[in-house]
Amino acid sequence: MRTNPPPPSNPKNPAADKSKLAADKAKAKADKGKALMNELRAVTKETPGYGTGNYTLDLDEYELAGSSDLQLKLLSIFRSPQYKPPVLPNIALELTDLSKKQNVSYDDVVRVVEKDPMITASVLKLAQSPLYGGRPVQSLKDALNRLGIATLRDLVWQVVANMRLFRVRNYAPIMERMQLHATFTAYAARIIAQKAGIAAEHAFLCGLLHDIGWSGTLLAISENNSKPPEPKTLFAAIDKMHVEAGGAMAKLWGLSQEICTVIGNHHHLDKQRKPASVLVPVLCVAEHLADELGFGIEIKPDDGILRRDRIDANLDGRFDTAVGMLKLETKLDAIREAAAEAGQRIRKVDA
Ligand SMILES: [Fe+2]
Ligand SMILES: [Fe+2]
Repeated sequence: MRTNPPPPSNPKNPAADKSKLAADKAKAKADKGKALMNELRAVTKETPGYGTGNYTLDLDEYELAGSSDLQLKLLSIFRSPQYKPPVLPNIALELTDLSKKQNVSYDDVVRVVEKDPMITASVLKLAQSPLYGGRPVQSLKDALNRLGIATLRDLVWQVVANMRLFRVRNYAPIMERMQLHATFTAYAARIIAQKAGIAAEHAFLCGLLHDIGWSGTLLAISENNSKPPEPKTLFAAIDKMHVEAGGAMAKLWGLSQEICTVIGNHHHLDKQRKPASVLVPVLCVAEHLADELGFGIEIKPDDGILRRDRIDANLDGRFDTAVGMLKLETKLDAIREAAAEAGQRIRKVDA
């Protein structure tokens, strides 16, 4: 049996009634946001559980907090002296240190990589994938002969990142997207640095890890909540704080100063100022190509038009600034073509 809906409390003007309701709702939301901020400000290093991830707020509070409140809350995780980034297998860091030294033998490299049979197997698989020519590789020595130490180090990082950094419980679809974005940006950054004639040793690694603040933040939330909030609730806030979070993680891993600087400044590009590293404009161009070629964090809309407020976007004009800084004007077509080709191979490996 159908029942009639209850009459509005102001039958003469239901619209006014509706707007009062909306205003009350907005006020309640703002009050909750303020209360949350007060609660956060009241947290000190002496608060039990501070910085260990044990000091958490309810799911509802994530949803009610405004983007800037949430941003601060999330940053407090990374600013805490107790924060620990995800553990990386030693071999990635050992190999990175080794590749800085002169006169390193292939045997030294093999000894480091072989310590982890699972990583070795994945490295060999990737070394014979279409990304590296698609020819069979018999051993690590064989891969080294073909690729050299620096490229093998990058390849090990790609394997390690896929195993450890892009696996976050409860956030699998967005992490898959992040992995694709990071992998494309790494290969594109390497291509751009080469074409720009920059001896950028860390172009690939910076591309691979540039948005690591996203993974680190989702990982911290996922570990500390039995029912983590929907990614869309968090996007705007993470978008604004991932640069600082990623810089903090890189520092804690003990990565080189240049890599930490690039990750911690990868969206900071200003026409008037010298960039923090030449790799900042390199990443800006790489990310632009990622968006253009469908490797952005957000899926490219069907109409092909990129939204200005898309996630992880560089502000208008930054791409042109980066192209100018790197003097790539006449090389852009070749770069785009090489990056598109790398993108197709990445999709094949990913498939
Ligand atoms: Fe990015
Ligand atoms: Fe980013």
